[in-house]
Amino acid sequence: MTTVTVQASHTYDVKIARGLLASVGQEAARAFRGRTAAVVSDTNVAPLYLQAVTDSLNQAGFRVCPFVFPAGEEHKNGGTYLDLLEFLAREHLTRADGLVALGGGVVGDLTGFAAATFLRGVPFLQLPTTLLAAVDASVGGKTAIDLRGGKNLAGAFYQPQAVLCDLDTLDTLPAETFADGCAEVIKYGMIGDPALLDKLERLDFRADPEEVAARCIAQKRDLVEQDEFDTGARQLLNLGHTIGHGVEACSGYAISHGKAVAIGMTLVTRAAVSLGLCPAPVLPRLEALLHQYGLPTATEYPARALYEKTLSDKKRAGDTITLVVPTGWGKSRLRQIPVGELLTWIERGLGQ
Ligand code: GLY
Repeated sequence: MTTVTVQASHTYDVKIARGLLASVGQEAARAFRGRTAAVVSDTNVAPLYLQAVTDSLNQAGFRVCPFVFPAGEEHKNGGTYLDLLEFLAREHLTRADGLVALGGGVVGDLTGFAAATFLRGVPFLQLPTTLLAAVDASVGGKTAIDLRGGKNLAGAFYQPQAVLCDLDTLDTLPAETFADGCAEVIKYGMIGDPALLDKLERLDFRADPEEVAARCIAQKRDLVEQDEFDTGARQLLNLGHTIGHGVEACSGYAISHGKAVAIGMTLVTRAAVSLGLCPAPVLPRLEALLHQYGLPTATEYPARALYEKTLSDKKRAGDTITLVVPTGWGKSRLRQIPVGELLTWIERGLGQ
């Protein structure tokens, strides 16, 4: 087992190993003073793992109340959030009790936001069951729901008591969902870990993801510890996400987050190369790596449509936007640009 300790608003461990779901009861006994655990999951994940999690919690003496909602980003909304809060109230959860998020990023974000706001804050555990949630969404305390106006527009910074990344859960992921997580893994390499990129090129980490996952989580830990509330260095984690957000939104969210991030990383790298900010060989090498892990690198959407959708993203601050710009193989920098310049970046990213 690998353990990464995060020192943020409070200190907590991210544990990475196979078979960890069986120890959730012990973890909850350390994290919650009370003896009720509300397990939040979705209709994809609950049939696979809810029973094992319930058994472990029961063995540790917990009363378990399960809340299962329909799978999909479209359910990470105010309706599901209020249903969950009403459920917690009906179950008489107290501040001594806790929530357990069992699922991917949607489950983790929704559960975290409910934990942050129910009774003004109850403890929660993250049990990520996708690679994307394991290496990114479950760590660092970003919680949110989507509004009609855009993704993650209502949320809070609220750290979990612990994160258990059970690598066995990755074995049941559809290839497409695993590929979404690979985009985030490659993102970590491009932000600041050239050796990780070299490793990803040389061998397929999918059969044995512990070391790679731990390395990504440790990098995220470093950025969260420097900048828990996302005003500086943590924004490096948005590499590929700004233009990627435009791609996702143009597709009506039919293109998944990981694939949109892969396209976003490619476009911003091509633009950086064309502006002389990044050496040219980085682009074909990045594209080859993304293809190796089943990810796309191009989009048919026109620059103007991408620009307009990108602007609805919350990463904008007044008249400027912070872009994460690759400046080498495994090296990226934050760059403030006037909002109007983003269109030029996107056009260059599309090779126009
Ligand atoms: N997912 C990006 C962050 O946690 O900051």
